[in-house]
Amino acid sequence: MSTSRKRVAILGSTGSIGRGALAVVEAHPDSFEVVSLSARGNVELLASQAARFGVKRVALVDGSRRGDIPLGIDVAVGPEALLEIASDPEADLVVNALVGAAGLAPTFAAIRAGKRLALANKESLVMAGSLVMREVARTGAALIPIDSEHSSLFRCLRGVPPAEVAAVVLTASGGPLRDVPESEIGAARVADVLRHPTWSMGEKVTVDSATLVNKAMEVVEARWLFDVPFDSIEVVIHRESIVHSLVRLTDGTFLAHLGVPDMRVPIQYAMFHPEPAGVSFGECAPERLGALHFEPLVHRRYPCFDLVLDAAKRGGTSPAIAATADEVAVAAFVKGEIPFGGIAGVIEETLRAVPGGAASDLDAVLTAEAAARDAALASVGRLHAGRN
Ligand SMILES: NC(=O)c1ccc[n+]([C@@H]2O[C@H](COP(=O)([O-])OP(=O)(O)OC[C@H]3O[C@@H](n4cnc5c(N)ncnc54)[C@H](OP(=O)(O)O)[C@@H]3O)[C@@H](O)[C@H]2O)c1
Repeated sequence: MSTSRKRVAILGSTGSIGRGALAVVEAHPDSFEVVSLSARGNVELLASQAARFGVKRVALVDGSRRGDIPLGIDVAVGPEALLEIASDPEADLVVNALVGAAGLAPTFAAIRAGKRLALANKESLVMAGSLVMREVARTGAALIPIDSEHSSLFRCLRGVPPAEVAAVVLTASGGPLRDVPESEIGAARVADVLRHPTWSMGEKVTVDSATLVNKAMEVVEARWLFDVPFDSIEVVIHRESIVHSLVRLTDGTFLAHLGVPDMRVPIQYAMFHPEPAGVSFGECAPERLGALHFEPLVHRRYPCFDLVLDAAKRGGTSPAIAATADEVAVAAFVKGEIPFGGIAGVIEETLRAVPGGAASDLDAVLTAEAAARDAALASVGRLHAGRN
């Protein structure tokens, strides 16, 4: 047990990962103290979290309900308020559990403020991986992944000489539609898409698991986190979500990391790092893990996977454009404005409409994001109008 408590700021505390981070704090009250929290608009939950953990500082992106936060708590509103939480002078550790492009600027703010950063917001690395890693190198900040595959690779790769690594292998459950006949995927209903077979997660990442955009994003994350070229990152379908990643060594053998699918495990690991993590969430005897299956990815079932990955390989602002188009398309699908099969079309049209450029700095990426958001909304509008 550490002698002093780590002071934690949690961006996106009302979401799936944010609540997981608070569960870790709850399991280790002697190791962590929560100093600040943020939400977009879920004031009820934010206020109850602040009361439960004795937090005196919160950020609320949608300021219209700031009056619902109890007196005595310092409330900052608007997107800029996230930057204040990310660089909170009271915090040693920042957990970025925001979803989507909203997480990008706070990632930079936390790194520049010299925080340890436990990063769940994969969009930060997809949209601006080279800039994020450059900033990490410049500042010497610690960046610890929360995404389960990357947390597991982070652990597998410890002490392995780079010359022994032939490839890293990310496992994918295949997502909520993995058993739906190919001809019916495009018309999948929202309720079916939101029912993930192995993981319990937020809405966007669950839809991204159905399109496999999530896995394409994870390939990009791995590329930047571990400095491996794209052609040394493989994806395999593994239905049980027990093996979180594998490292293929040059002699043909594998290292693997196994565990039950529970995000509190990688969240806890990232929050404790470099100290050893405390409790076991959902330990399971090896004989109860059952049979483990591995299958090749059938690309034609998942057109978005190649769209996003190809954009990432083109580099510059293209991955930011693809990620933003996906975010807009997923929101439209969940609202019933476009069919599931329309998500790929929105990404494709947006990539065609917005020319990629150099991702020379954060402003260039944010400018591309804004252009992609407009183009993707226009694409959604056309698709929506065409259905009515
Ligand atoms: N969930 C998982 O198991 C999992 C696993 C691996 C990686 N990840 C990654 O972790 C990140 C978070 O995912 P999640 O599933 O936890 O998402 P989530 O459940 O949707 O929660 C998102 C959080 O961000 C806030 N938020 C949403 N939009 C915002 C905006 N525009 N500006 C500021 N705050 C905003 C939400 O506030 P409100 O509640 O007020 O809307 C909520 O606190 C994503 O990048 C995801 O890909 C998640």
